[in-house]
Amino acid sequence: MNIVILGGSRGIGKAAAAELAKDGHRLLLVGRDADALYKARQELGGETKIFQGDITSEAEAGLLTEYIGQSFPPDGVVFNAAAFPDPRTARSVLKPSVRELQEILHANLTAHYRLAQLLLPLLRERGGGRMVFVGSTAGIRQDKGGIYGISKWALNGYVHLLRNEAKAYGVSVSLVNPGGVYTERRKKESDGGRRLLETSDLGIVIGAIFRLSRQAVVEELNIRPIDGDTY
Ligand SMILES: NC(=O)c1ccc[n+]([C@@H]2O[C@H](COP(=O)([O-])OP(=O)(O)OC[C@H]3O[C@@H](n4cnc5c(N)ncnc54)[C@H](OP(=O)(O)O)[C@@H]3O)[C@@H](O)[C@H]2O)c1
Repeated sequence: MNIVILGGSRGIGKAAAAELAKDGHRLLLVGRDADALYKARQELGGETKIFQGDITSEAEAGLLTEYIGQSFPPDGVVFNAAAFPDPRTARSVLKPSVRELQEILHANLTAHYRLAQLLLPLLRERGGGRMVFVGSTAGIRQDKGGIYGISKWALNGYVHLLRNEAKAYGVSVSLVNPGGVYTERRKKESDGGRRLLETSDLGIVIGAIFRLSRQAVVEELNIRPIDGDTY
């Protein structure tokens, strides 16, 4: 299959890419930082393609869609890229400004909403396909998620509605909600990995979703460290 990974150069997206490459899928990794994309492509090898672009930019999302339409007819898309709030106020919905909320919602919901609209017709041309969204347990919990939690709750609601509508086109829609994951980004701020999942755990889960038969859909999957979330 041809699988696009939005946010495939680092963290969970890169771990998903590693797993999907093992299964022989052709990949297109999307991210803003060219060096990170080159590095990921070098590590993955094979037929991995890269596209440098910011999914929050309407113009760049348009260019990405054009590129995919012409050079990488998709069978699957992993909607994984996200923005994260200022750690100093991350657990509050009273302290961050409205502008910060809008930026987070734009990156974590609106940009994916737009790309799903743009890419669904391309999946349809291939006779259907899969969309896998990476949410968060912050989008199923009711405490301390802050504006990031708002964006993931919104994504959760959106994905359920999209699943119902996209099935008419043979497109299955999954939501994977991880608890804390030990990514490079979190290594800088964390407790050394206790109570954090490995990125490979998410890679395995996302890889497995793409191994299912066409008629099967994982609707929602929540995965946490045994001892629970980190907050
Ligand atoms: N890590 C965790 O503990 C955790 C827990 C629960 C859920 N999640 C979710 O898992 C997903 C991945 O998180 P992560 O921790 O792996 O993040 P990460 O390590 O920061 O990686 C994010 C990836 O997305 C790309 N990206 C970010 N913004 C982008 C944009 N505007 N346009 C294009 N690409 C963009 C990044 O590349 P560039 O920066 O170069 O663009 C990178 O490839 C997110 O949806 C996150 O909410 C993470």
